[in-house]
Amino acid sequence: MLQKSKILLIDDEKESCKALSHLLSQIGYDVEISHTGEQAIALLGIESFDLIISDLFLPGISGIDILKRVKDDSPETSVILITGKASAETAVEAMKEGALDYITKPFNFERLKIQITKALEKNRLILENNYLRQQLHGRYHFDNIIGTSQAMQQVFRRMGKVTGTDSTILVLGASGTGKELVARAIHFNSPRKNKPFLAINCGAIPADLLESELFGHTKGAFTSAFADKPGKFEVANGGTIFLDEIGNMPQLLQMKLLRVLQEHEFERVGSSQKIHLNIRLISATNVDLQEQVKMGKFREDLYYRLNVIPIHLPPLKERRGDIPQLARFFVEKICKEMNRPQISIGDDALQAMESYDWPGNVREMENIIERTIALTDSVIIGCEELPPDIGKKITRSALSAPQITSRGVDMNKVIADIEQEMISQAMALEKGVKARAANLLKINRTTLVEKIKRLGIEN
Ligand SMILES: Nc1ncnc2c1ncn2[C@@H]1O[C@H](COP(=O)(O)OP(=O)(O)O)[C@@H](O)[C@H]1O
Ligand SMILES: [Mg+2]
Repeated sequence: MLQKSKILLIDDEKESCKALSHLLSQIGYDVEISHTGEQAIALLGIESFDLIISDLFLPGISGIDILKRVKDDSPETSVILITGKASAETAVEAMKEGALDYITKPFNFERLKIQITKALEKNRLILENNYLRQQLHGRYHFDNIIGTSQAMQQVFRRMGKVTGTDSTILVLGASGTGKELVARAIHFNSPRKNKPFLAINCGAIPADLLESELFGHTKGAFTSAFADKPGKFEVANGGTIFLDEIGNMPQLLQMKLLRVLQEHEFERVGSSQKIHLNIRLISATNVDLQEQVKMGKFREDLYYRLNVIPIHLPPLKERRGDIPQLARFFVEKICKEMNRPQISIGDDALQAMESYDWPGNVREMENIIERTIALTDSVIIGCEELPPDIGKKITRSALSAPQITSRGVDMNKVIADIEQEMISQAMALEKGVKARAANLLKINRTTLVEKIKRLGIEN
């Protein structure tokens, strides 16, 4: 059963108000009545309505005042004003203040019914639209980009600084590190968020088609151009364009892109009509563009145009601390998507994942978790549920030296972790006999005892 639409009827003429209220209730609306503006405002403070129909001339607070108040407090509510004394100016004023419609007394009930249906329909569309937009924005909310590692915190800080601007951004990182996610999040948090976001993979489209894909063409511009077609730049105008795998852009197009960015205008292939460019450009690459520049494969001038604000996404193995949180995030998300009861993920599996190198980065992790959930009947994901190369690797790669990055690595901690792991293994092998464990590790018993104490190893 659909909820009845709620209408607030405000009219100081009690008889006509009652009659109209009666008619509206009969056709299925939930109607409330106010005879003064003051009473209506009080009511609006505690209840919400889908539609307000108000007399324009009321003693005290007028219909226009109510309209202004409603537009301030709940702009999605439609207002229809009625008056006995029709005048062009009041009608204009009412529409300027945001009234949806304006009707004159005595009104034709059939017409009023249509106006009400239209108002409510518009109202529903606006709400639906807001809802969809919120959902979409929710998806690209910064909160949905997981990462507490320093590297990701730095990414968030930078994203926060640039979202409000129109700056050109270059997102760098290996495949699956979240480049497109970051680009979308920037767009959907920017002032352009209600305009299009278009992504184009410069590496996936044949060179001879890419130009018309980007800039469009006119009919007959080349043999297969049977009709006029706008390009991605034209469709996304006003919004954001995401040029993925920019490193694969053919040389000729690099030149054209540079020209477009410099001149802020472009034309469709085969046309001389200039189209003004109003676009936020975000590009991404998983290749070393500077290296490409050195090798003469990528134009240096274009590189500098694109690389105004770089955002670097490190590979997952350089931010292992983010792995458990990411894994839990995907388990929860995928269970929801698959409509499965929430599965949990065991510490052993998390540990195994943390020591795996993830050559395909976050995308690989997302896929593996999806596959694991699809195939398991268990309510807990343990090591056995994971693909063998991840589930098994735990001890060996936990002992290997981490990749050292420009941000540095806490060497003492890594060494302590390795010592702890080795001591635990030796103690387990020798069933807790310290002298023999020390023997295995080729250290003194006293050194071992001291280390066990310092590292807080349980025995
Ligand atoms: N930090 C992150 N938090 C949550 N999901 C992520 C994160 N990074 C990447 N993803 C997800 O991993 C997948 C691959 O990301 P994507 O942006 O397409 O990577 P890229 O463009 O770098 O290849 C997407 O489904 C994306 O939503
Ligand atoms: Mg991508």
